[in-house]
Amino acid sequence: MKVTVFENERVLARTLAVQIAATLGQNPSLVLGLPTGRTPIRLYHELGTLHHAGQADCSRATTFNLDEFVGVAPDDPGSYRTFMREHLFSRVNLDPARINFLDGSAADVDAECRRYEDAIAAAGGIDLQLLGIGTNGHIGFNEPGRELVGPTHRVRLKESTRRSNAGLFGGDPTKVPAEALSMGVGSILKAKRIVLIATGKLKARCVDRVLNGPITTRLPASFLQVHRDVELMLDTAAAGRLADRV
Ligand code: PGA
Repeated sequence: MKVTVFENERVLARTLAVQIAATLGQNPSLVLGLPTGRTPIRLYHELGTLHHAGQADCSRATTFNLDEFVGVAPDDPGSYRTFMREHLFSRVNLDPARINFLDGSAADVDAECRRYEDAIAAAGGIDLQLLGIGTNGHIGFNEPGRELVGPTHRVRLKESTRRSNAGLFGGDPTKVPAEALSMGVGSILKAKRIVLIATGKLKARCVDRVLNGPITTRLPASFLQVHRDVELMLDTAAAGRLADRV
C-alpha cells in the first residue's frame, strides 16, 4: 500500500481534491465511491471551492455512497444523504440522476442491497473509492467481528459507532438507528483504485495495524492489503505510529 503523509488535514484535503479534479478532467464519467464522517468534510468543501473556480466539473460523474441508516428517509436531517447534500452535492455540479444512495427506508432492505450491487455493476464498477476509517478499523459500516459480509448488506451498529454518529441525531446516541445498510468489504475491494484518508492521533493505532498487522476480520480495513491500488493519505498525527517504519 502506498502511504502519503501530509503536514496537516488542510493540505491533505486540498491535494486530494486537486487530484480528483484532474482525474475528472481525464475521465469525466468517473465513478466515485464516497464516504461520510468528519474526515472527508474538508475534501468535499475543497472540491466545492475548485468547482466554483471552474476547476472541477462533476457533471458527468457518477457517485455511490458507502452506507446509510436503516429506517431513515433520504430527506431526514440525520440521514447520510442529508450530510452529503450539505457537504458535497450542493457545492458541485453532480447530476442528481447519477447520485446513488442506499435507501434506508426501503420496505425490503435485502432487495435494496441487491439493487445497489446491480447499480454499481451497471455503472461499470467504481473507479475511485474514497474511504475513511473508524478508530476500530471499520470501513463503511463493516464492523470488526468474527466474520465479514462481502456484498452490500444490512448491519447492526456497534454502540461506539452509534455514539460517534450522535451528532447527526441531536447528540443523542439512542436516537441513532441500530442498523444500517453498507457496501461490504467485497464491494469495496472491487473498486479499481482506493484512497483511504485518516487524520488525527486517534487514528494512528488502527492505521499502523492496517499497514503492518495481519489481515483479520477484527480489523476490516486490513483487507485493503490484498488490493493492488490502495493509497493511504494521512496527516502527521494519523501517521504518528509509523515514524519508525516508513
Ligand atoms: P470519521 O469517521 O471520519 O468521523 O472519523 C470515519 C469512519 O467511521 O469511517
